[in-house]
Amino acid sequence: MRKKLVVGNWKMNMTRGQASAAIESLLLLVDPNTEVEVAICPTYLTIETVSHLLRRSHFLYGAQNVFWMPSGAFTGSISATMLADAGCSFCIVGHSETRGRFGKLEVPESTLGYFSETDETINLKIKSLLYQSIRPILCVGETLAEREAGNTDSVIYDQVKGALAGIEPAEYYSGVVAYEPVWAIGTGKTCDSAEANRVCGVVRKAVAEILDADAAESVQILYGGSVKSGNAAELFSQSDIDGGLVGGASLDAEEFSKIVRSA
Ligand code: PGA
Repeated sequence: MRKKLVVGNWKMNMTRGQASAAIESLLLLVDPNTEVEVAICPTYLTIETVSHLLRRSHFLYGAQNVFWMPSGAFTGSISATMLADAGCSFCIVGHSETRGRFGKLEVPESTLGYFSETDETINLKIKSLLYQSIRPILCVGETLAEREAGNTDSVIYDQVKGALAGIEPAEYYSGVVAYEPVWAIGTGKTCDSAEANRVCGVVRKAVAEILDADAAESVQILYGGSVKSGNAAELFSQSDIDGGLVGGASLDAEEFSKIVRSA
């Protein structure tokens, strides 16, 4: 039986002071005996603050990105070895914002090359995380144009295949995949729960084909994209949705705790 998992993706938000306040509130608001796995992915600079506050709680934490080499001349990069050293249980990989696929574009289009994640770099990152026993949260999702062209399922399949190439099935038994339609991220538009469940089923089938049936059965598949307290229960009750990857709504402790309760 797969556990429900709710992950807060804080993105580029929260100073150390704000992070402390948010975690202190969350610890008061979330039932310490909850069966739900709860994790927070803050910025690299607040991981230490968050880990210190969470040390005696059931909450887990992780990072939002990683570089695949263990150490060396890679200015500005952070390795899986360093994330493991900081006690991270999870790491988000292949988020649409690092792939340069934005639901709401807030930077000049000419700068999109900066966000240049590819299936190959995602695959290398996942391998480096698994080597350190950090659970990857692989994000996949189609743009509005891809959906309108009827390509949703093939885009999802190709992203899962590219990311998991060459990985031993058993290595991914505690891995996570998040289905995040790009057009629903930070836009307030949520995917209809039946359609979100259908695409999460496509992800599970892809994992079965690319890895094996046991991996497909054990992998936790999350939905992400404008999850809020008002839609979480409906989304999380779907058969193939094992929880959520929550962006904007995870910045508010009260709202996030309600989403955890819905799971
Ligand atoms: P959102 O972001 O909840 O703000 O839409 C989700 C995500 O990008 O992980």
